[in-house]
Amino acid sequence: MKLFFADSAKHLIQNFKKYKCEIGQYESSVFADGERSYRLKEEVNGEWVTLIGSVLPDPKSLFEIIALHRLALENGSRKITLVVPYLGYARQDRPTRPGEGSIGIMVTELLQKMNSSRIILIDVHSDLIRKAFRGLVIELSALPLIAHAIGKHPPNVIVSPDAGFVSRAEKLQKLLKPKPSLAVIEKVRPKPNVAIAKRLHGDIKGKHVLIVDDIIDTGGTLSEAVKLVSQNGAKSIHLAATHGIFSGQARERLSRLPVERIWITNTLPQAQFPKIHTLDIAPLVLDALTRT
Ligand code: R5P
Repeated sequence: MKLFFADSAKHLIQNFKKYKCEIGQYESSVFADGERSYRLKEEVNGEWVTLIGSVLPDPKSLFEIIALHRLALENGSRKITLVVPYLGYARQDRPTRPGEGSIGIMVTELLQKMNSSRIILIDVHSDLIRKAFRGLVIELSALPLIAHAIGKHPPNVIVSPDAGFVSRAEKLQKLLKPKPSLAVIEKVRPKPNVAIAKRLHGDIKGKHVLIVDDIIDTGGTLSEAVKLVSQNGAKSIHLAATHGIFSGQARERLSRLPVERIWITNTLPQAQFPKIHTLDIAPLVLDALTRT
């Protein structure tokens, strides 16, 4: 099995190399007019190829996945597995105002049209996106990694920072022993990129709390959650999420808060930062690749 990494996932190469994976080589260049060109630098005829690439906000990443997939196909690859550590645009899964469209669904459709033998995703943001893949994907979750990292010191309470994350918070709850209780925050978004934590449902006074989400983008959702949880008398607060976008000053914003640790995975490249601990997804992905 050869693993090709698109630019959006190149930060993972070293982690996969630790497991003696064979890394496929290709070259890319840009013409004078800005068009991109790609060429595989090795034989894939009859091979099982795995292409690892995230859909980032920059559409170049999506184009690159499609182009590299095409190259593997045209050069005779027997079977192509596409691994998408971070599937961007999933938050745009439906129009929220007249005139908008389902850009996230469009992205899923483009990925499906490539006819990979399998598509592996990690913690997909939305049920609508999950449904749009019509069960043709394998979805991995970073929750077991988070549960393992927390290890011997599980929280007393898991807090879901909004209603949308409750079902996954419940999954994490089941992975921990002793089983923590669950609390939920009512979150509203008065405008894009602004989150307000209105109310907390659940008892957290004097408790060790873990607030968990799928994505950290501006850090607004989690900072608001931390403020509310502190006001309600939590004894200690940890944060965890799968995908760390950390737009703008999000890292600074979160690490200034009264939190002990922030657990994040490397589905996206992570910079070293006080309080932030990065969990490696490579074993999770490799396990899925070999198991399936
Ligand atoms: C929203 O529904 C997601 O689950 C996350 O809560 C959100 O994307 C986080 O974004 P931000 O860090 O900008 O609040």
